[in-house]
Amino acid sequence: MCKVACGSALRPEIRPAKKEDLTGLLALEEICFKEETFKKEQLTYLLLKAKSLVFVATVDNILICSIIVLLRRNIAAARIYSLNVHPGYRRKGLAGSLMDTSEKSLKEMGFKKVTLEVGVHNHAAQDLYSSKGFSVDKILKKYYENMGDALHMTKKL
Ligand SMILES: CC(C)(COP(=O)(O)OP(=O)(O)OC[C@H]1O[C@@H](n2cnc3c(N)ncnc32)[C@H](O)[C@@H]1OP(=O)(O)O)[C@@H](O)C(=O)NCCC(=O)NCCS
Repeated sequence: MCKVACGSALRPEIRPAKKEDLTGLLALEEICFKEETFKKEQLTYLLLKAKSLVFVATVDNILICSIIVLLRRNIAAARIYSLNVHPGYRRKGLAGSLMDTSEKSLKEMGFKKVTLEVGVHNHAAQDLYSSKGFSVDKILKKYYENMGDALHMTKKL
């Protein structure tokens, strides 16, 4: 059930990202991650040039949540590449809502599977992904620039 739409005072707008969202996406990235943040050029590429789905949630036109999903050309598996929620708006169902919105679009496009990577110590995100039906299929050793390991998770659509 979507907590955001059902009873919460928070009434975010969830919509596909536009090129005007670049500044908001960058600001959110910098708030959410201390290292390995996307730079402006990378986000510009992901938003405007890559084969991707990008959804955002806004409140009063302030961007508070984003998801970037990469779409591969020849295989029917998409990859959740980035998911960020502003610290002031967490545990309100926002990340779950953006995942649901993305999955609906992916299913409509014919995708059969979604994959993602999550840090072994990022228990908040792991709990979120488990609650959404993802399961771990392998460990990626030294996956991050800081040499941290990641879990590779998948979900059939
Ligand atoms: C991980 C993150 C995206 C979750 O966003 P969120 O909007 O707070 O998540 P939701 O409210 O949709 O949470 C849904 C469920 O996920 C789990 N969950 C989310 N945050 C959690 C936490 N801090 N601790 C434990 N479980 C958590 C819970 O099962 C939760 O359901 P509940 O609130 O009914 O218990 C957010 O904390 C974030 O942006 N973190 C920093 C960036 C990041 O780590 N991104 C993921 C990279 S792989």
